[in-house]
Amino acid sequence: MKKRYNPIISLIIILSAFIVGSCTESPAVAEQPVATVLPDISEVTTRLPEAPGYQTFNVNCITCHSSAYVQNQPDLPEKTWTAIVTKMQKTFGAPVSDSSAKEIVQYLVAIKGKS
Ligand code: HEC
Repeated sequence: MKKRYNPIISLIIILSAFIVGSCTESPAVAEQPVATVLPDISEVTTRLPEAPGYQTFNVNCITCHSSAYVQNQPDLPEKTWTAIVTKMQKTFGAPVSDSSAKEIVQYLVAIKGKS
């Protein structure tokens, strides 16, 4: 009697060879270097002058863009600075509290204000 191989068993053997083969390949996701050290906020400095509200400005206003956005503005009246800070809050979604916004406006008027 001729010996016949069970096709199901053969299939299982072939498939398991593939599975074992794919397991021995190097992992698809190679180890990526992950930044574990975040910059210390106190090391993030702006070139803007210090005045009352400077820290509040640093905490709230340089997360999306640099302080150059302020530096590059001409001297502006308080009304315009208020409108700009409100735009950052309302239009661009800056998470700035209203009391911080007032402090920041005072700071901006102190360093780049115009009556
Ligand atoms: C959520 C992100 C975000 C935060 C936080 C943020 N800004 Fe902005 N800021 C923007 C975007 C977006 C623009 C527009 C950029 C453009 O027009 O190319 C902008 C533009 C500006 C400009 C340029 C002038 C103008 O009217 O567009 C100034 C000045 C400015 N921001 C000041 C501030 C101040 C002050 C704060 C802190 C209260 C602040 N930003 C916080 C997103 C932000």
